[in-house]
Amino acid sequence: MPPPDATAAYRRAEEPVEARVCDLLARMTLAEKIDQLHQVGVGDANPNNLSERREEFQPTFGSYVLNGAPDLALRNELQRRAVEESRLGIPAIFGADVIHGYRTIFPIPLAQACAWNPALVRRASRAAAEEAAAHGVDWTFAPMVDHCVDPRWGRVCETFGEAPFASSVFGTAAVCGFQDGEPSVAACLKHFAGYGASEGGRDYSYTDISPQRLWEAHLPPFEAGIRAGASTVMSGFNDLNGIPATANAYMLTEVLRTRWGFDGLVVSDSNAVQQLMRQGLAGDEAEAAQKALAAGVDIDMADGLYRAALAGLVTSGRVPLARVDTAVARVLRVKFEIGLFEHPWRLANALTAQPPAPVRLELAEEFARESIVLLKNTGVLPLAGGVRRVALLGPLAESRGALLGSWAMFGRADETPTIAEALREELPAGTTLRIEAGCDVAGTSAANFEVAVAAARDAEVAILCLGEEAEMSGENASRSTLRLAGKQEELALAVMATGVPVVVVLVTGRPLELGRIEPGAAAIVVAWQGGSRAAAALADALTGRCNPSGRLAITWPRSAEQIPVAHHVRPRARPDDAGAYRDGPTAPQYEFGHGLSYTTFTYSSIRLASATVAIGGRLRAELTVTNAGDRDGSETVLWFIRDPAASITRPLAELKHFEKAALCAGESRVYGWEIEPARDLAFPDADGRAVLEPGEIVVRAGPSAARFAVVAANPI
Ligand code: GLC
Repeated sequence: MPPPDATAAYRRAEEPVEARVCDLLARMTLAEKIDQLHQVGVGDANPNNLSERREEFQPTFGSYVLNGAPDLALRNELQRRAVEESRLGIPAIFGADVIHGYRTIFPIPLAQACAWNPALVRRASRAAAEEAAAHGVDWTFAPMVDHCVDPRWGRVCETFGEAPFASSVFGTAAVCGFQDGEPSVAACLKHFAGYGASEGGRDYSYTDISPQRLWEAHLPPFEAGIRAGASTVMSGFNDLNGIPATANAYMLTEVLRTRWGFDGLVVSDSNAVQQLMRQGLAGDEAEAAQKALAAGVDIDMADGLYRAALAGLVTSGRVPLARVDTAVARVLRVKFEIGLFEHPWRLANALTAQPPAPVRLELAEEFARESIVLLKNTGVLPLAGGVRRVALLGPLAESRGALLGSWAMFGRADETPTIAEALREELPAGTTLRIEAGCDVAGTSAANFEVAVAAARDAEVAILCLGEEAEMSGENASRSTLRLAGKQEELALAVMATGVPVVVVLVTGRPLELGRIEPGAAAIVVAWQGGSRAAAALADALTGRCNPSGRLAITWPRSAEQIPVAHHVRPRARPDDAGAYRDGPTAPQYEFGHGLSYTTFTYSSIRLASATVAIGGRLRAELTVTNAGDRDGSETVLWFIRDPAASITRPLAELKHFEKAALCAGESRVYGWEIEPARDLAFPDADGRAVLEPGEIVVRAGPSAARFAVVAANPI
């Protein structure tokens, strides 16, 4: 194959990106264009078998999914063929699911949100980008910023919780972490849009979302990510109100392109184009390809329909060539912008050395510490220094993989310390630590209850590690209930019956039903799936080396029967509990934002700089928080608004600002919020138009609340 023309404009880095895109596009054949829209998984390929699998991996293919074992040699060999064996030498772009870490695994995104620390999200994404790039990844299919409405949906673990504002902040931090640094890795906002409303929490299902809810809850994190410069977006699996997200022109073109001005590329989710047939929107593969491309999907992931059908669709006039050109231009633009033409190779370096660098493990441990939420504590925690007989029980006491959670395929469970190992290291010398699983996570046997109960009887405190295996949350991991699986609940009750104080530790990707064990628990700590250093972080929290500071970024239901339950519900037409279930409590097990500390924080009343604010003005709200206890700690102040009377009803509470700070014992600190009505008080109508109107606003933070009025203009 003769080398590409080195003098061509598209090969000159000094040329403007648009000029390079136009020049290259003009040189491409239809087949070459279509191959740029074709993405294949590398799967079990390797550098040695590529020659036999030439049809699967043509040098003209535009992108690959590297979700197999890390193999830099394979990635660079596929790139060599793209750059040296294709007519125009267009480099391929290599994507992978780097969701919460690559080789160093950080807490799952739901846990990250509970740390209320955007800087940590950004640092963790940056660390993940550095490790991923060192293994050949140019593009991560993250952050996932879906809005989950039912935690029985397995992918709740991948979300940044239930507050659209929080998801917007953390999603933005992740985009910047991935993209803004060297090496840069292109981010991908997913799954656009509405996937988190999967009916009944069943994955891949229909999503019935009102336009008002779509604009209020599902779209803001995507818009924030676009504003942050995300290079790519992934269309979702879900059937969105009858038009699947992967063929939804209103979302993919009207909203994404026309309203938000997004000029990056859209990739479908895996096989989502082909799934349009099963969903009933396409009678055959050609129609599926035609509808996805027409709606705005640029790259077809995995099912090969674009490669199979687009040439015929163009020559038959069913698809305008201009639409293909637009899609190809978007792909080329991303490749030019991330520097792939100048730097097609990812070079092995120290980062590819195993195991992960200590600096990243320390970051993972810091993040895991801050994501731990202390849900209940009768005083048994932190473990008293004099405790010398501890029973460590439960099926997750010695688990490694469960601590990593889902989408941790590049991490190494075998290198992940268990809770038992971390406690053995952390507890004072001479402490006896008796370890008994008692049961499996999902097994039906109670045969080992007795040894666990006996261990508890001989101990001064029992730490009972319950929850989920890694694969019980994530994709295609929907559950009909939030109950603890298997015999875990019975084990807990049996251990609690001994009368020994029981600290329940939850290793989980979602909220779990605790109603029957909460009364007997002396303390409840949710460690989530905290990643490579989850166990050490948990041991720090249990022994008091760190003071838990996490707060729930998701409402914790008493049971699945309460769903939907969230902090941002609309009021019912009648007061108090009128209309609520008559056969059980209305309040969730734990409210959004719940989280205890080993110290006590007191809140002053909210101080407002004025009783009114003009629509174009600003208003400062502040309050003083005091660490009234004898231990240092960190406190996150969550600021909510309520608009009690508006042209469209408003939720009972909308999170609009948050701030986390460390306070030494006895220290007082002012937390402030500069309210800007257009940014903080406007709300969307059913077509996404911002509405900002005069009227009263209630602002709340912790136990404090205050009212002010938005006025049309500065009063005379
Ligand atoms: C999966 C997931 C998506 C992921 C993609 C590539 O089916 O839905 O989140 O990025 O395929 O692995």
